[in-house]
Amino acid sequence: MIPESQLRAQLTHTLREIDLPGLGELYRGKVRDNYGRADRIVMVTTDRVSAFDHVLGTIPFKGEVLSRLTLFWFDKVKDIAPTHLLDSPDPSVMVVKKAQALPVEIVIRGYITGSLWRDYQAGKAGAYGIRWPEGLKKDQKFDEAIITPSTKAEYGKHDEPISEAEITGKRLVAPEVWREATAVARRLFARGQEWARSRGLILVDTKYEMGIADGKLIVIDEIHTPDSSRYWVADGYADRFARGADQEMLDKENIRQWLIQTHGFSGHGKPPPLTDDVRVMLAQKYIEVFERLTGTRFESGVGDVADRIRRNLKAKGYL
Ligand SMILES: Nc1ncnc2c1ncn2[C@@H]1O[C@H](COP(=O)(O)OP(=O)(O)OP(=O)(O)O)[C@@H](O)[C@H]1O
Ligand SMILES: [Mg+2]
Repeated sequence: MIPESQLRAQLTHTLREIDLPGLGELYRGKVRDNYGRADRIVMVTTDRVSAFDHVLGTIPFKGEVLSRLTLFWFDKVKDIAPTHLLDSPDPSVMVVKKAQALPVEIVIRGYITGSLWRDYQAGKAGAYGIRWPEGLKKDQKFDEAIITPSTKAEYGKHDEPISEAEITGKRLVAPEVWREATAVARRLFARGQEWARSRGLILVDTKYEMGIADGKLIVIDEIHTPDSSRYWVADGYADRFARGADQEMLDKENIRQWLIQTHGFSGHGKPPPLTDDVRVMLAQKYIEVFERLTGTRFESGVGDVADRIRRNLKAKGYL
């Protein structure tokens, strides 16, 4: 693990946003700065962190960890489905094929936890059109992975749960495309769970985005990252589950818990400022998940991320 002193040294060099007007029209998401032109997007994964749909601040090395993990996973699943990846001129940048994104996110879950657990307990998990088994316990494994789709809300709005019947009934997605997309999601998730397990982790749930490019369904955005997925430490899962204790989490849930427990913040009002300690803590979790999944040490240099990106884009002829 990269020494804590380096994570602290990087706190003042994180990438909040980057202006690269030469690369096309900017769409700034919560985490990525996307420069689109014709049929490609230059996607810069910044160090921004969001929770409950609020951008909270930056985390050292986060953009690089997410981008490199997505590259790692794209390679691991390349026999399952084509992806949008064209090039990666910098560890935080992917050049991708622009797709017509499906207007729903494909959330797939191996365990009942988080918001689904809270909704299930409150008898409010009806929106997915799924008949939930009775008597489930927090963090229990499902017999088979379950898809709980959500709408991809426009900027500033929250994603909403939606049922598969409504997605195809309202023709948000054509039925045959939806069938293919969910079949792909199940195979990706099975592959992800299998690999994570071999690395001592549980891939608990995740979210896929897919789109159509050149008439074909492709996987877009990021996959199996600690922003888009939950990861638990496999060792001790059963014991913690039996005791009703919280699982050992290596994902964004850590910052949600910090917001709730130390500030009572769960999305309403103004989010509290992140302390340096919590920024370093989250960096450590993300780097740990990277190192466990890839089996390699995460190494990167302390320094200005925007400068490095500009240098790499110039060297590769993008700027
Ligand atoms: N290949 C692609 N073609 C078109 N759009 C894509 C592609 N890959 C990713 N996207 C979109 O680019 C954006 C990536 O930015 P980011 O991840 O920061 O957005 P977000 O905050 O998750 O979502 P939002 O768009 O709601 O702000 C997302 O809107 C994602 O759906
Ligand atoms: Mg996103």
